[in-house]
Amino acid sequence: MTDTFELSHPEFVLIIDFGSQVTQLIARRLRELNVYCEIHPFNNVTEDYLDQARPKAVILSGGPASVFAEGAPLPPKKVFELGVPVLGICYGQQAMMYQLGGKVESGHMTAEFGRAFVTPKNDRLDLLEGWFETDREQVWMSHGDHVSEIAPGFEVYGTSPNAPFAVTADVSRHFYAVQFHPEVHHTPNGRKLYENFVKIAGCKRDWTMGAYREEAIAKIREQVGDKKVICGLSGGVDSSVAAVLLHEAIGDQLTCVFVDHGLLRLNEAEEVVTMFRDHYNMQLIHAEEQDLFLGELEGVSDPETKRKIIGKLFIDVFQRYAGEIEGAEFLAQGTLYPDVIESVSFSGGPSVTIKSHHNVGGLPEKMGLKLVEPLRELFKDEVRELGRELGLPEHFIGRHPFPGPGLAIRCPGEITREKLDILRKADAVFIDQIRRHGLYDAIWQAFVAILPVRTVGVMGDGRTYDYACALRAVTSVDGMTADYYPFSHDFLGETATRIINEVKGINRCTYDITSKPPGTIEWE
Ligand code: XMP
Repeated sequence: MTDTFELSHPEFVLIIDFGSQVTQLIARRLRELNVYCEIHPFNNVTEDYLDQARPKAVILSGGPASVFAEGAPLPPKKVFELGVPVLGICYGQQAMMYQLGGKVESGHMTAEFGRAFVTPKNDRLDLLEGWFETDREQVWMSHGDHVSEIAPGFEVYGTSPNAPFAVTADVSRHFYAVQFHPEVHHTPNGRKLYENFVKIAGCKRDWTMGAYREEAIAKIREQVGDKKVICGLSGGVDSSVAAVLLHEAIGDQLTCVFVDHGLLRLNEAEEVVTMFRDHYNMQLIHAEEQDLFLGELEGVSDPETKRKIIGKLFIDVFQRYAGEIEGAEFLAQGTLYPDVIESVSFSGGPSVTIKSHHNVGGLPEKMGLKLVEPLRELFKDEVRELGRELGLPEHFIGRHPFPGPGLAIRCPGEITREKLDILRKADAVFIDQIRRHGLYDAIWQAFVAILPVRTVGVMGDGRTYDYACALRAVTSVDGMTADYYPFSHDFLGETATRIINEVKGINRCTYDITSKPPGTIEWE
């Protein structure tokens, strides 16, 4: 048995993070090229670490600092003594030049932000092979300081109007430095540079999900030995993929706990239980705790209080069921790579709590359990790919996110069973409409919220006095920002008619067109 879940990758590219907003995109670009890479904050990359890690190549990310500032973040000099290719991007370029004997200057006259065009200079450079499709390439710049004198051994291979050293390199040592960001969308052919860079580094580009699956299974077996593992299963993509992977690795040593808090969508509990217990043959505890949760929530209308109650009960319940599994030593979690990356914060200080998110944080220590986190090296889309590889059905893999507190935060005001039943039906009609119109995959998340208002209507010859509901559908990349989905009026009209006709208890439908920020995706 070993203590942590960590795969040993025979070849990997080390990305040293200096705090750029787009460092994660560098990792995305490399993973797309089937190259395994890891992001480490600059202050964790010590000489000892470099000796142990032996990366195939190193990338120095951008960042907001200035090399002149006191205590400016710099990579250890050893990076340049490893004998592997090094690519410096934006701030990484400046840090590299500064450390290797060049000069950097600041001055707002030479600051450059946004789109620029690079034209080739001097001989061909292996890093730029196939890059200049025309006589210039669009790139995205974002820098205040600039390099004013390149380090000895370097030559210029590309310039832009404001960056005479847009691309420089010391070919003999395979050191490359670019002033722009090849990883962002606005450098349309940036992928080519990364492709060339990993080729120069001699990467085999054999990081595939099939290989990951095999390796992860072996690693889980090694970490867990013959001990038992508990896994909280929500039916969401991450916990489902983690559960299936673990099950494949250790079979009946795994027990999943599915907590039904009575705040799930229509038929959701049945679907999850049938799929994992019957289809995958997993040991699954279906914790039916609707009465407990709904009882404690009775009369509560404050959003934060609701969240806190649900979060606490969830942990209590999970702990109670997990405690019954004799000999369990591990708790499995579907933690993803973006949750693991320690981002570099220059501003410091905690950010304000907008909403207390619900998770099972703190449980492992409380229960004396060790953690197994088989997805901790993957990005969300890679988890989906792994899910496909493991044979999970597409409708599970492509599901919209569903929050831990469930329908509680889509039912502003007091929660009652009656309201929840109405909400479930309306939500099911809305999602059915979206699927019928082929829009499900174009939308990040869609749901109905039942409003704490009754309004007057007329149906047939009678007066109605029923609930109003709001439809919410947003596009987003990561849930941090979002925009409402531009449904056609025909779609909205048809959906409102269906909901009002098919769902008893609702007589008015509105569409929420608030973006995030200033709104949030959920209503509470
Ligand atoms: P907001 O409403 O903050 O939501 O814009 C952003 C994303 O997070 C989801 N969300 C949660 N997910 N536990 C979760 O697992 C929570 O407590 C929680 N609250 C919000 C939300 O559905 C959206 O995808």
